[in-house]
Amino acid sequence: MINIAVLGYGTVGSGVVEVINTNQDSINRRAGDAIRIKYVLDLRDFPGDPVQKVLVHDYETIVNDPEVDIVVEVMGGLEPAHTFVKRALEAGKSVATSNKALVAKFGPELMDIARNKNINFLFEASCGGGIPIIRALNQSLTADQIDEVTGILNGTTNYMLTKMDMEGSRFESVLKEAQEKGYAEADPTADVEGYDACRKIAILSSLAYGKFLNYEKIHTEGITRITPEDMEYARVMGMSIKLLATSRKLSEDSYYAVVAPFLVGKNNPLYSVNDVYNGIFVHGNVLGDAMFYGSGAGKLPTASAVVADVVDEAKHLHENMPNEWNDQPLPLADPDQVSG
Ligand code: HSE
Repeated sequence: MINIAVLGYGTVGSGVVEVINTNQDSINRRAGDAIRIKYVLDLRDFPGDPVQKVLVHDYETIVNDPEVDIVVEVMGGLEPAHTFVKRALEAGKSVATSNKALVAKFGPELMDIARNKNINFLFEASCGGGIPIIRALNQSLTADQIDEVTGILNGTTNYMLTKMDMEGSRFESVLKEAQEKGYAEADPTADVEGYDACRKIAILSSLAYGKFLNYEKIHTEGITRITPEDMEYARVMGMSIKLLATSRKLSEDSYYAVVAPFLVGKNNPLYSVNDVYNGIFVHGNVLGDAMFYGSGAGKLPTASAVVADVVDEAKHLHENMPNEWNDQPLPLADPDQVSG
């Protein structure tokens, strides 16, 4: 039996419970053991919801319970998520998270703690929603030297731009729709100002280039100034406006990274990435081009990625081995060599 504790019963947390309940048999089979949700931590109560039976309000119950093997952090934000995750790892509990703010800021520290404990800190759900892009960069494209990552990495703004483009909708009303659909962050400023995409490109670039890129150094511009006239001009030119996050390796220790709205032409595969979908283009020196496409935000796609990490970690706990990509420290890129 692998016992997990889910921190946060919001959009993603309730999705994690739903995914495990829906696919319990196949998940157990792939994990090689029964995955049980022992606790859900939330400050609220959920009367009438079966989750109430495993609901706790105090994190100490979880961190002090030696039966908890994996902590799933889906609260979002830096605090108390950072403290809770750090304490879980220090207590020898593996962690799976969807929290890109946490990974972009504290990823190296948390991976170090996990490595020293021979467990893993996993964050597939932090970028690209349900698209397995972290696993692709860490486990599949290992023969390559990656020199470019460019993507539509924020589902909310892509949904908004698509609606504004195709239906002529207004910014405020499409933002509200994206929030209602559970795509947007608790504070959607992170989406519309590009901060969410910025953290994601920092994470993906760090993995792609093997150097930790500081997201605070990345020039970031959101979509708040895009007007219906801009949309119309783009359309007349046979193009579309997309919020792209892009990075390039310029030399052994210098990198270019930027997040901004770009005009994207019809011959670019990212042109057809619409609605809440994300698309990520990767270039490697031997691979050439690869594109990853899929559901980039929302309850179930994100939960799918979180639960895949749980399954992966359950397998590794049985083998008592860290994942191959957690087994070396990630050196810090020289902050002065990251330009936007
Ligand atoms: N707010 C994020 C987005 C959620 O819209 O992409 C998924 O990370």
